[in-house]
Amino acid sequence: MHPDCERILLTEEQITRRVKEVAAQLDKLYENRKPVVVCILKGSVVFFVDLIRNMQTPCELDFMAVSSYGAGTTSTGELIIKKDLAADIRGRDVLIVEDIIDSGNTLYHLKKMLNKREPASVNIVTLLDKPARRQMPLEPEYTCFEIEDEFVIGYGLDYAENYRNLPYVGILKRSVYEK
Ligand code: IMP
Ligand code: MG
Repeated sequence: MHPDCERILLTEEQITRRVKEVAAQLDKLYENRKPVVVCILKGSVVFFVDLIRNMQTPCELDFMAVSSYGAGTTSTGELIIKKDLAADIRGRDVLIVEDIIDSGNTLYHLKKMLNKREPASVNIVTLLDKPARRQMPLEPEYTCFEIEDEFVIGYGLDYAENYRNLPYVGILKRSVYEK
């Protein structure tokens, strides 16, 4: 285990098993359709890759980078689009792949923005959800794991751009961000 990790919350095995289950549910949902599967950079990249590799459904892949602060390129009020989709999603089924939902701010505004482009549908699949932290009315259609209000790292998730490549999800030691 990484020395900055308090404890492992989800092991590689637990994640692999759950990702397969959710991929099978998504295959059922998108039967005979071809969704645009959207990776929200950068945190979702590891989950996204594992998820699509376990899906049988033919799908198109696309990437977006957004933030609710900082110097971006296109601002849509509450959301800064640092990188927009390449695909035209009008009339398409869109599946947003997110790493973690906390306040719900990011996805609430992102979903609203994408809906203006008149897709056939927008669904959200998230690896982790911290429902206790929610500030905006946002419910993901698919959640792999609900977790307590702890700061987690690994499997794509970072603290100050570190730890994304850990193969498990761990709780970060408080001493790392309180020093
Ligand atoms: P929201 O808009 O508050 O839902 O923010 C969600 C985003 O905050 C995620 O996509 C992550 O980038 C970040 N985030 C929230 N909680 C954690 C955490 O425990 N570890 C790492 N990143 C987190
Ligand atoms: Mg994120």
